[in-house]
Formats: sequence, C-alpha cells, structure tokens
Amino acid sequence: MNLIEQLVNIYREKFGYTPAHLVRSPGRVNLLGEHVDYNNGFVLPAAIDLATYAAFSPTNARHSTLVAVDFDQQASFSAESISTRTQADSSPLPEWALYPAGVMWSLMQENLPLIYMNAVFASDVPRGSGLSSSASVEMAFMIAWQTLGGWTLPSMQRALLGQKAENKYVGVNCGIMDQFASACGVENKLLLLDCRSLEWKTIPLPKNISIIIADTTVRRKLTSGEYNKRRSACEEAVRLLQQELPSINSLRDVRVEDFNRLAKKLPRGIEKRARHVVEEIGRSNQAEALLEAGDVHNFGRLMNECHASLRDLYEVSCPELNTMVNIAQSLEGCYGARLTGAGFGGCTVNLVAKEQAGDFSRALAKGYETETGLCPNIYITRASNGAELIR
Ligand code: GLA
Repeated sequence: MNLIEQLVNIYREKFGYTPAHLVRSPGRVNLLGEHVDYNNGFVLPAAIDLATYAAFSPTNARHSTLVAVDFDQQASFSAESISTRTQADSSPLPEWALYPAGVMWSLMQENLPLIYMNAVFASDVPRGSGLSSSASVEMAFMIAWQTLGGWTLPSMQRALLGQKAENKYVGVNCGIMDQFASACGVENKLLLLDCRSLEWKTIPLPKNISIIIADTTVRRKLTSGEYNKRRSACEEAVRLLQQELPSINSLRDVRVEDFNRLAKKLPRGIEKRARHVVEEIGRSNQAEALLEAGDVHNFGRLMNECHASLRDLYEVSCPELNTMVNIAQSLEGCYGARLTGAGFGGCTVNLVAKEQAGDFSRALAKGYETETGLCPNIYITRASNGAELIR
C-alpha cells in the first residue's frame, strides 16, 4: 500500500469519513550555495520526489485535530491556544506539532480567514537528514489552510510565511531556501534563487545526469545551536568588515578581492566562516552559465570545492559525510559530490552520469558500509513540483 492510501485509511478509521483533500509537499536537495541564503547569496536547490502528504477536511469543531502517523501521536490546537504553544486541553504541543501550529500562527498574523481542520499526515522525507522535512510539513499545511480558507497566496509569500513560522514560532533561525524550494519547485528543473531580491528562475537539469542523494543515516543533535552560531559568526564578520567597507549590508556585498585584502583583520574563527560564504557565493554565481553550457565537469568541480569548504572552513561536516563524499568522488561517472543542507550529519548530493547511476549507487552503498559499518539509503531523485493539492 502506498503512503497516500495508508493516510486515507488511517483518516477514515480515525474520523469516520473520507478526507476531502490531499496535499503533497516535497523536501529539497541543494546543489550549490550552502549556508549562503541567510547571507543574501544565491542557492540552487530542487524540490525532490520525497514528500510530506496530508489528508484533510474542514471541521465544525472549535479546534484543529492533527494525527502525525510518523510519530503515532495526535494533537489539537485552536486560535486561542496557539500563542501559548498548547493544545486545546492546555497540555503543551508536542514538538512535531509546532510546525503546523507555527504556520497557523503566521497566517493569523496576516489576518487571513482560517478554518479548523481534521488532518492526518506522514512523510517519506527522512527527518533531520538535510532534505528539509520541516519545510515540507510547513508548506503542506500552508496549502491545507489556503484550500480551506478560500484565499490564494503567491508561492513565494507562502515560503516567507513558513520561514517566519520556523524563525519566530519554532525558534530555528533558518534562511529562506528550504521553504522556497518546497513551495516553488518545478518538475525536472533546478531553481536558482537570489536570496537578496528573491527573484528566481528555473534551470533545466543537464542532459544525461542523475542527481543521487545518499543518506549517511547519521543524525547529529544540537544542530540548531551550531547553525545559529554560524549565523552569528557571519553577522559578526559583516560588523567588522563594515569598518573598512561601510556600504556593505551582508557578506553578499563583499568582493573576494576585498575580502582577501581585509581577511587579516578578522579573528581566525570568524575569517574561516566568512571566507566560506564569500567564496561559495562566488561559486554559485558561476552555476547558471556552467549549467547552460552543459559543463557538468566544472559544475561538479564547484560542488567538490563546496564540500571541502564546508568541511574545513565552515566546519559543518562530520566523518561519515566526509567518508560518503570521498568514496563518491572516487567512483566512475561522478562529476561532483558534497554534503547538502545544514550539515552535521544527514545526506550528500551527487551529480552522476545517468548511465552510471545504478553502478554508482551500488558501489557507494557498499563502500560506505564497508568503511563505517552503517547501511546508507541511496535515492536516485527526480526534481518535482512544489507543494500542491492532489485532490
Ligand atoms: C538549513 C536551513 C537553510 C539553509 C541551509 C544551509 O537547511 O534551513 O535555510 O541555511 O541549512 O544552506
């Protein structure tokens, strides 16, 4: 039975009738531009074929009731209980429920009409793996509330309100990339987003290329603490560099030559973080031209450089991610491999010649298992549409 049939069955068992609607909301993989979205840089993600699905209907109850199949739990909340992060019965909201509740909170701030719902949801995006399972849940509920409320927001607006929910309600200081990719994904296309202007365009996937995701299965705790520390280091770098370059507002505004000239003035720890960002924005700046020219060799080289920089300068990799990347880079047909997402565990993304995809996946899984004793999950992924109603 597939995930959608399962959801519908659980919904019928739980609520006694067939759900009115179904939404599919994808995770994402990022090819280039890592840890630059909150520095106003460029990112190059794609929505993927792993997704969160939610079955839902309006209810006359005075609260929403949500069943999280993956946690085997349910929670309910209302407009009155939202601000205290509690359920309709005053008990605290479980952590998973902060994402949908945060979306409702964010929509309430916009004064949009909200209708209570019964919903059952589940995801095949592995949690905490760098593939944006949280954003996929947020964008699923954005569509659900939009559908029931009878209003329509542009997809970028949904992404921004989802990011606000995550920043201000859940308490994770993420950038815009994940919600953007989950909201705005386009089948078979990469998405190039300028995180300063929020202008974006699609870029066709190079021909005869597979995007392969490899999950190390390692999950690090304290990720959000480390993530927030990286953000603060970037902000500190901007403050210090402004003494010499008063017109800059973010690391996006710093040219590599200026950075090299001024780097000595920064404490070493801050310099390493900022150097990653400045150079990574330079790399992602080249992405469009390389992909348009079909130059997958040089694009892959930038991915490899990105990994080295995330490992040595931004220090968000871990031994298992490095092992996965080293093996991948040594295999035939692999143009580029690097960690994807925030890091500290989770997945790598690999750009591989299509005809080698099967052999590559098998050899990568075997090599990783031999070296680490861990059994990885490998996905040959397809770029998919953003969150949408499927019924
Ligand atoms: C997480 C955040 C994104 C982005 C990436 C790193 O996925 O949610 O906003 O900063 O890390 O590129």
